[in-house]
Amino acid sequence: MQSQEIRKKFLDFFEKKGHKIVPSSSLVPENDPSVLFTTAGMQPMVAYLLGQEHPKGKRIANSQKCFRANDIEEVGDNRHTTFFEMLGNWSLGDYFKREQIPWIFEFLTKEIKLDPKKIYVTAFIGDPAHNLPKDFESAEIWKNLFAEKGITAKEVEFGTEKRASEIGMGGGRIFYYQDKNWWSMSGNPDSMQSGEPGGPDSEMFYEFSDIQHDVSFGKYCHPNCDCGRYVEIGNSVFMEYQKKSDGSFAKLPKQNVDFGGGLERLIAASNNEPDVFKIDTLFPIIKEIERLSEKKYGEDFEITKSFRIISDHIRAAVFMIADGVTPSNTERGYILRRLVRRAVVHAHKLNMNDGAFAELAVVVVQTYKNVYSIDNKIIDIKNILITEIEKFKNTLDKGLKEFEKGIDPFVLLTTYGFPIELTLELAKEKDIVVDVKNFEEKFKKHQEISRVGSEHKFKGGLADHNPKTIKLHTAHHLLLAALQEVLGKNVKQRGSNITQERLRLDFSFDRKLTDEEKKRVEEIVNDKIKESLPVVCKELPKAEAEKLGAEMEFGAKYGDVVSVYLIGEENKWISREFCGGPHVGNTNELGEFKITKEEAVAAGIRRIKGVLE
Ligand code: SER
Repeated sequence: MQSQEIRKKFLDFFEKKGHKIVPSSSLVPENDPSVLFTTAGMQPMVAYLLGQEHPKGKRIANSQKCFRANDIEEVGDNRHTTFFEMLGNWSLGDYFKREQIPWIFEFLTKEIKLDPKKIYVTAFIGDPAHNLPKDFESAEIWKNLFAEKGITAKEVEFGTEKRASEIGMGGGRIFYYQDKNWWSMSGNPDSMQSGEPGGPDSEMFYEFSDIQHDVSFGKYCHPNCDCGRYVEIGNSVFMEYQKKSDGSFAKLPKQNVDFGGGLERLIAASNNEPDVFKIDTLFPIIKEIERLSEKKYGEDFEITKSFRIISDHIRAAVFMIADGVTPSNTERGYILRRLVRRAVVHAHKLNMNDGAFAELAVVVVQTYKNVYSIDNKIIDIKNILITEIEKFKNTLDKGLKEFEKGIDPFVLLTTYGFPIELTLELAKEKDIVVDVKNFEEKFKKHQEISRVGSEHKFKGGLADHNPKTIKLHTAHHLLLAALQEVLGKNVKQRGSNITQERLRLDFSFDRKLTDEEKKRVEEIVNDKIKESLPVVCKELPKAEAEKLGAEMEFGAKYGDVVSVYLIGEENKWISREFCGGPHVGNTNELGEFKITKEEAVAAGIRRIKGVLE
């Protein structure tokens, strides 16, 4: 079976079970400056998982475009890709484990005809420290489903992956893990933010029996082992908890299910083909690289790796550009630049010529044009790629020579355009040690490149450092504080966007604001401006910042040490927010604040636009 068929089978299957099919959201999250890309199908669904009503109802299914920057370096093996489509089905306070697990098993075994003997599953072992129980229920449901297929499903308790690799499969079918079977956007129960939803999950793995366990990944193989014998093909998250500010967990008002399964991995399993690059979504790109490079895929390990990197990165680049990203030195643009430049280095290894990327982009567009509207953007995509590649090509050879001579990664970056990650990768291939600390020091001083973004390095704050934008940014903090004063502390930020002309703040509130309320909010902001309050930034460990009660936008990821912007006199702050800045030094720099618009954006979410005059 190929991609069109499996995508359709999945959506049809869940449509028959009462789900509404929704289109994929953009790769660039809307109203959420805190994350660079959509990394999971659930990301655009958070507000609904927390209880807001979805306009389409309680059962939703889709195929979501996703991009995971932290997998860039994993690309090269037979199953990791940065861009992928995630098939998803959601219960928003409707069905739960007893419905979803049998359905997904039916989909896997009947619709795409996987041999149940090759399916292995996992469940949450529990976390006594957080008072989170073991998920006996999922295990029991799975046990019965396997029994119906004549399979006795033995349970094995692993806990950590380390322990799993020490004891091995032990004839098991259902395996209990700890952190591996807990899902939230920011990881395990400890690392979750207060307010964030999460829950135990049950994952499905397909066994590629032809792949022999590789002991470099651990003594014994187990479902979560990285050797490639067992590949995760689906994950049902039973999203029923929310983390509280005191670190404890409470049940959400309703139980939700978030299932996600990588489309290509499902196809790989259905064809018993462990190499996702041989799937019809990627193989045409591989074929085109064969034609352009006159080399053969699978010929040797290094060549195959380059084929995979080029095809993954060009596909991701095409989708990013189609969703409006352009190469730059910051944030999303930097990730795109990194992908393109890394692909160019690998194309260089295969002796491909300069024009190759435009041709590869055409193949990507052809492959997907019936699923996503990207073919109308092909001219832009090609132009952006060609310009970006031209820029880098001019310095690539010289840069590589410089690299051979002994590297200063800072010069490689600033003079030859080598992203630091690329230099580190080239150095690793040659066993050269790079002085990263020295690089970082020089880099900090370097004004031109303001921030290196990746989901994990996110610090929050503005990409545009124009004075007008900075002023609006400080006004944005005052506005949130004023809204809380007038409408209550329950008002939380749900999105934001600031340009040189105006600010936009999305916040949780369930009705239209009255004229008096709007007026009062404006007055409070303008009073604070007139009071000439200092704006200060403190770098604090996250826990301390949380103790201060600093506002954070839900869904945002923050590092261990965070910066908090405080407005007001010491200890009499009127605004406290996790934020990367920059801000003005004093509120008296702002001018007069005006609300220009107040409207609904979704159920329970209002949007205010405002300006400074
Ligand atoms: N959110 C879960 C995941 O990304 C399931 O969709 O794995």
